[in-house]
Amino acid sequence: MNQSAPVTVTRLQEMKRRGEKIVMLTAYDYLLARLLEEAGVDLLLVGDSLGMVFQGQETTIPVTLEQMIYHTRIVARAARRAMVIADMPFLSYQTSPEEAIRSAGRLVKEGRAQAVKMEGGREIATTVARVVEIGIPVMGHIGFKPQSRYQYGNHIVQGRDETGAAELQDDLKAIEQAGVFSIVLEAITSPVAEELTRQAQCPTIGIGAGPGCDGQVLVTADLLGMFTEFKPRFVKRYAELARTAASALEAFVGDVKSGQFPDLEHSYPAKPPSKDKR
Ligand code: KIV
Repeated sequence: MNQSAPVTVTRLQEMKRRGEKIVMLTAYDYLLARLLEEAGVDLLLVGDSLGMVFQGQETTIPVTLEQMIYHTRIVARAARRAMVIADMPFLSYQTSPEEAIRSAGRLVKEGRAQAVKMEGGREIATTVARVVEIGIPVMGHIGFKPQSRYQYGNHIVQGRDETGAAELQDDLKAIEQAGVFSIVLEAITSPVAEELTRQAQCPTIGIGAGPGCDGQVLVTADLLGMFTEFKPRFVKRYAELARTAASALEAFVGDVKSGQFPDLEHSYPAKPPSKDKR
């Protein structure tokens, strides 16, 4: 497989067949999207988690379609090899298949997404099928669905009893038949997620769903230690950027206050040194 070729739906299918893990991370801006692309991330998810991480909201629910289009267009500018997937925000697809087609179409046409993601199982299967029919690849999302946050109370982890596990299987079958090319499994017990992955023809991407999925996704700000308000059990921090940034910023404030910045090295002298054209 040509590792530098753009990631496509067919390629993801091939990766599942070969047992090659798929990496997805969230991106909402150009700078980070470029870093993710350069690190070899396969899928850039413009997640509606930007409601919390970027906008400081409590849930993903207030995020609008216009905001998703705006962020998707920015991320798409940075993408070379990775596939850009845009989350469909709350109320942009639940009301009717027609509205879903229009919203998904705008994310692709104006936002330059290559695929969209929708939360839900059996209840959105018809909608998924209609969007796929017009040629837009759809990623599913079952298990814990953040847009239904208020339905769950404290019961975040899904698939803990037989009924719950059976419902997840029905949801997975329904959206697979409707044509999704991949499915996010969120906050599902490891054995159930592993079984769902075995049953699925398309690749599963887990978040808080254990190691048995075909791929993994995390919110990038969580893994980089930038978003520190809370840390779910499944998040592994690979850096502590909030701490690093805080000490750099404090140092800058101190230097400006004490007059140590800017020094001569960081100022323009009256006559430029010969090599410095600016
Ligand atoms: O919005 C998001 O970032 C997501 C991932 C957590 C899967 O849906």
